[in-house]
Amino acid sequence: MNVLVTGGAGFIGSNFVFHMLKEHPTYRIVCLDALTYAGNLSTLEPVMENPSFRFVKGDITDRDLIDKLFEEEKFDFIVNFAAESHVDRSIEDPGIFLKTNILGTQVLMDASRKYGVKRFHQVSTDEVYGDLPLDRPDLFFTEETPIHTSSPYSASKASADLLVQAYHRTFKLPITISRCSNNYGPYHFPEKLIPLMISRALNDESLPVYGKGENVRDWLYVEDHCTAIDLILHKGKDGEVYNIGGHNEKTNLEVVKTILKELGKPESLITFVKDRAGHDMRYAIDPSKTRRDLGWEPTTLFDEGIKMTIKWYLDNRDWWENILSGDYADYYETMYGDR
Ligand code: NAD
Ligand code: DAU
Repeated sequence: MNVLVTGGAGFIGSNFVFHMLKEHPTYRIVCLDALTYAGNLSTLEPVMENPSFRFVKGDITDRDLIDKLFEEEKFDFIVNFAAESHVDRSIEDPGIFLKTNILGTQVLMDASRKYGVKRFHQVSTDEVYGDLPLDRPDLFFTEETPIHTSSPYSASKASADLLVQAYHRTFKLPITISRCSNNYGPYHFPEKLIPLMISRALNDESLPVYGKGENVRDWLYVEDHCTAIDLILHKGKDGEVYNIGGHNEKTNLEVVKTILKELGKPESLITFVKDRAGHDMRYAIDPSKTRRDLGWEPTTLFDEGIKMTIKWYLDNRDWWENILSGDYADYYETMYGDR
């Protein structure tokens, strides 16, 4: 099997590359990544010399490059992780989100149609369902929950999902879509809540919690997301959507306090700052279809996963300190300066 993993130099994509090389040693894994601010080639260092792995630097919106790559490689599976992924950045500058997340998906699907693939898998998000109220803990997102987006990021991901479903119905492209809840784990870019809080706490810097910190996210250890996508690729049904989540709902404040406790840092580092515009209140995934139809089970509980993640950030300071020493300081100032 020849598998194209787009966005494989980012957080989940790199974990998926490692997962696939380990679990399917006979497969060829080609990673295509534009190496935007979120892509990091050093993450893929351990597999660069692996004969089953090839890295290609390129943009999913570049039709000529994609066409050549598909002609050359004759892919069986496409797994599209490549995206602009940060909600706050989409509020600052939506344009690139529409280009990469929607048009990039179209370019990949056009090539998939032209050259033929066994499966085009779109990595989507629970954010396409909008949010749930805090006072209705009985409500969860199912695959039938209507699309109802809040941010330019989630609107771009939902647009891509609709386009993927249209290519299935109109052109019979063999597709699947997965919608996962918030991931955490190694190689998570330190603009996102958990790695931002870990890296800042380790440097004894203030921890910016939006609003009152009451918003709820449903956290899943990244390897559990990878095993679900692996199963969908091999056992999923063409045209289907699969929700992925492990019932690990936490308020942001709970998450931040857990990190501080694990690191032995004081809660006085917490600073409540201006809320995110349009901030979704609660995400909660009902993953029963994926469990029932594919036999998927998440294996890492939050208490264990957060300890493993903190240990990874302690053991790999170079990885995130390199990021913090680049353009990141300007980013932080722009995003948080007047909060
Ligand atoms: P990330 O920002 O860490 O990584 C994105 C990767 O895509 C980077 O390596 C970047 O260089 C690459 N990329 C960006 N634009 C590109 C382009 N035009 N061409 C080629 N490569 C490009 O993101 P992530 O958190 O790993 O998310 C990966 C995917 O999973 C995204 O599609 C996201 O919507 C989805 N998702 C993320 C989460 C989460 O909690 N992080 C949850 C559910 C779904
Ligand atoms: O649910 C899946 C989504 O999870 C993915 O589709 C996105 O790509 C991914 O970035 C993530 O989106 P969120 O907006 O939920 O993640 P983020 O880490 O940015 O924020 C998590 C929560 O923490 C959210 O309620 C906002 C809050 N937050 C975030 C940051 C960065 C803070 O309170 N302070 C912060 O500094």
